[in-house]
Amino acid sequence: MDPDPRNPIDRLIGEFDRALRAVAGVASAARPSPGQAKPEAELGEQDRAHAAALMRVNHVGEVCAQALYQGQALTARDRGAKAALEQAAREEQDHLAWSAERIRELGGRPSLLNPVWFAGSFAIGAVAGALGDRWNLAFLAETERQVEQHLAGHLESLPSADERTRAVVEEMRSDEAKHRETAQRLGAAELPATVRTAMRLASKVMTTIAYRI
Ligand SMILES: [Fe+2]
Ligand SMILES: [Fe+2]
Repeated sequence: MDPDPRNPIDRLIGEFDRALRAVAGVASAARPSPGQAKPEAELGEQDRAHAAALMRVNHVGEVCAQALYQGQALTARDRGAKAALEQAAREEQDHLAWSAERIRELGGRPSLLNPVWFAGSFAIGAVAGALGDRWNLAFLAETERQVEQHLAGHLESLPSADERTRAVVEEMRSDEAKHRETAQRLGAAELPATVRTAMRLASKVMTTIAYRI
């Protein structure tokens, strides 16, 4: 049975709605933010701005994740792969909402370039999807691996007192590891080293810009 019984037009409108929510930073989470259980720390001006900028970078990453997963869920052929991608996409939506909320709490703002990040990632996701499930999943697994490493770097850079932000980043990192394992379990191919390097460069450009704008 088709896991999504809606007709293609309803589906497209649903995806478009999710896209707008992603770009506007108004996604709603199915799970409460892990930061809510932690007290708000007394942070200095600089630490607070740094934490907000890092969360802006993470939020951009999650906007891109929405676009990638949407692009791929639309093109994935295998039902099992499609269902797993949709489950991961729901968790990415939590990440999106949690990071947007944390940016607000820290007095920051989301990236002004979110529509650009979203459009670029959607196009990449659709291309990866068109290459077939093995490459689609390969791209996904590598993306999740790089995000995982990136979040580990943030845990080193975030103020140690900022437990509220750290709890969010830690939970996101553990979900991304799960997403990578899922993609590998579903039969991801191994990407050529040149593609992995190109992805790293693209993400470096994106994170450097998103830290500021
Ligand atoms: Fe995520
Ligand atoms: Fe993920």
